[in-house]
Amino acid sequence: MEPLTRIMFRNVGGISKGKWLNLFRQSEKNSCTITSQEVFDRESKYGAHNYHPLPVALCRGEGVFMWDTEGKRYYDFLSAYSAVNQGHCHPRIYRALVEQGKLLTLTSRAFYSDVLGEFEEHVTKLFGYEKWLPMNTGVEGGETACKLARRWGYACKGIPKNRAKIIFVEGNFWGRTMSAVSSSTDPTSYENFGPFMPGFELIPYDDLEALRRAVTDPDVCAFMVEPIQGEAGVVVPKDGYLKGVRELCTKNNVLWIADEVQTGLARTGKRLAVDHENVKPDILILGKALSGGFYPVSGILANDNIMLTIKPGEHGSTYGGNPLGCKIAMEALRVLEEEKLAENAEKLGRILRAELGKLPKDVVTLVRGKGLLNAIVINEKFDAMEICLKMKDASLLAKPTHGHIIRLAPPLVITEPQIRECVDIISKTILEYAK
Ligand SMILES: Cc1ncc(COP(=O)(O)O)c(C=O)c1O
Repeated sequence: MEPLTRIMFRNVGGISKGKWLNLFRQSEKNSCTITSQEVFDRESKYGAHNYHPLPVALCRGEGVFMWDTEGKRYYDFLSAYSAVNQGHCHPRIYRALVEQGKLLTLTSRAFYSDVLGEFEEHVTKLFGYEKWLPMNTGVEGGETACKLARRWGYACKGIPKNRAKIIFVEGNFWGRTMSAVSSSTDPTSYENFGPFMPGFELIPYDDLEALRRAVTDPDVCAFMVEPIQGEAGVVVPKDGYLKGVRELCTKNNVLWIADEVQTGLARTGKRLAVDHENVKPDILILGKALSGGFYPVSGILANDNIMLTIKPGEHGSTYGGNPLGCKIAMEALRVLEEEKLAENAEKLGRILRAELGKLPKDVVTLVRGKGLLNAIVINEKFDAMEICLKMKDASLLAKPTHGHIIRLAPPLVITEPQIRECVDIISKTILEYAK
């Protein structure tokens, strides 16, 4: 039989090209030939057991929705940990991927490509920094920031060789590499993975007094912090914390590294979470939504006095800055700006928190967040995983972070009627637990 793809470009049986295209898309959408159980079993048999996913097997996404292999539709309230801020399979970002995919995808940095400089100009002008250093995943952004800060500490601050320290906060999460777990306070991240990276110190989050004491040590080159702690359960610091961080770091000649891998790119209702306090970090780490969910793109921004302390050959990545990733990231940033997704996150986040704040306090003890990065804290006598399973049955996908906290972070393209429908789903589920 002739493939549908070929037939649809002719007017066959009086059916126009457009109609064929729709039929083709329909047939593609319903093309899952495997059951959810088969998906679970195959992964369990052949894949490492380093995740504990919700039992849902997805095969399609569009905007705020995902579908499982049986065709059931769900609201996505995780957004791949904020990597799909622009919504699933955004057509503009998809087009950028396809167009660049026809031309040139990877050169390595052994050669120039005609796209990297275009992206570097775009991203530096948008965020107001002099230089961009591209990587791929969020954790590589963090690694790069730490390396750059140490180098700056030796080259500019005059820290004696191999004595540079970086201060982190308790509850931080920036990935799973050896450096990232070396700074972690979560035993599931670090236990039995030692020995750990030296020169990392910890202070409590949202504690300017502790930071004041830590940064007076002349060997400290940097303080790395998330403006809102995502994985720790959407922990929002007190107003003024970020301003205080900026002042203390400046006063003590310490670099402030802001990890905006999860909070950045419109998620919290501003282009960056640090914009809520109008402050500018020395090194800014971006990742996740820079890809629009298509293809990992990360990197760091800094000014010349910091960035140019790293010389040719001293840092890099085969894929970092490749033309495909650059085109995708440029389009992902344009979508965020042109569709005003920060403004949407700000407006709908307020509605979400206000509505969820009406839920019975004996079940939902706290609602917190900024923009569309939110969490509900569940009374510990209830099982947050069980609540998420019930929400899944009611067609909304969310996942607990740290036992009793459920993060609520839909794609930022969600509309007001949709968020109100989601509030109904969450509320009905929660009310089953109320006395
Ligand atoms: C704040 C923060 N930084 C870094 C990372 C690591 O990103 P990736 O998983 O892309 O390496 C994460 C991932 O969740 C994160 O939340």
